[in-house]
Amino acid sequence: MKKEKGEIPMRHLSVRQQLSPFSFSPFSISPMPYTASPHRYAGFPDNFRRCGNSGILLPKVSLGLWKNFGERRPFTESKDLLHYAFDRGITHFDLANNYGPPYGSAETTFGRVMHESFRPYRDELFIATKAGYDMWEGPYGNWGSRKYLFASLDQSLKRMQLDYVDLFYSHRYDPVTPLEETLQALVDIVRSGRALYVGISRWPLEATKFGFDYLRRHDVPCLCYQGRLNLLDRQVIDDGILDAVRQEGCGFVSFSPLAQGLLTDRYLNGIPADSRMRTDVTLKEEVLTPELLQQLRAFRAMAEERGETLARYALRSVLEEESVTSVIVGASSKAQLDENLKVLETLG
Ligand SMILES: NC(=O)c1ccc[n+]([C@@H]2O[C@H](COP(=O)([O-])OP(=O)(O)OC[C@H]3O[C@@H](n4cnc5c(N)ncnc54)[C@H](OP(=O)(O)O)[C@@H]3O)[C@@H](O)[C@H]2O)c1
Repeated sequence: MKKEKGEIPMRHLSVRQQLSPFSFSPFSISPMPYTASPHRYAGFPDNFRRCGNSGILLPKVSLGLWKNFGERRPFTESKDLLHYAFDRGITHFDLANNYGPPYGSAETTFGRVMHESFRPYRDELFIATKAGYDMWEGPYGNWGSRKYLFASLDQSLKRMQLDYVDLFYSHRYDPVTPLEETLQALVDIVRSGRALYVGISRWPLEATKFGFDYLRRHDVPCLCYQGRLNLLDRQVIDDGILDAVRQEGCGFVSFSPLAQGLLTDRYLNGIPADSRMRTDVTLKEEVLTPELLQQLRAFRAMAEERGETLARYALRSVLEEESVTSVIVGASSKAQLDENLKVLETLG
């Protein structure tokens, strides 16, 4: 067989590398093999919760890759943070097709880590991804069609170097596509082996109830609903989503439990140059009004009264809500992740 330029002869690869379905280049071989900490389950089972009535336990604190894992960040830093999380018992990683920036790059980062270090631990990991927002140009790269969901998940699997994901979400409600089309696509995605479970994110109440019913009747019950819940945003409670989740016996995972960093000390004394508010577009400076700052300081005073930091206080308040399975935090450093994990010490 003709050897491609730059290809490594088969005999120079380890048996594991030779058997791997993924191609190797001299640049993809990790110089430092990773071994997960033997203490990673020291907090098991206390630090885990059952996801609704399912057989799945999720860590109370999960890690999301929306920001901080794209191309802007050196790969070794992202990899380090993922190792750090898994070493501390975080088994649930939340992704989506469009996480980065640019779109797709968080999944690519995760895929490289999968390839270089997480592969032996695949069965210890609970990996979620989603599709629903704009991902590629043209009529088939957005919203909730069967065509988009299948194509997007196939792309995600390639980027993440996985055969299947544990959880696949419809990332948002599509007011035009018939709900049955989106929901049947979720059912068929499970039947095709591409995902073990499905979930829905940010759907309004009536569509959510319809979705729960449809999925249950098709023997693919909704594993969990993903919505924003934090000290500043209680909409999912006011809208009855949490009640519906409880009645259905499905789980609830909260995204942005720290309101993208507002519910921490990050912005109490100005806007740091390396913060999301300065370096990204999803947290606008305009939100940081004097009224909001006053509210944040009041929360911090309440936290201090309990001997907690604002971040811990904010995470605890979400995790104490009935029906909440897990908070999906974001973190730009190990120190932030450590601080967020301390909430586990304060929960009953
Ligand atoms: N379903 C959906 O539509 C949806 C939408 C949004 C998010 N999500 C999921 O939810 C995950 C979390 O969202 P998020 O990143 O907005 O969560 P978050 O935990 O509310 O905010 C994370 C940001 O807060 C700051 N931070 C975190 N811990 C801190 C600490 N202890 N002290 C000081 N600052 C701290 C960091 O900001 P700096 O970067 O400034 O350091 C970090 O990037 C996402 O990664 C994604 O998986 C889902």
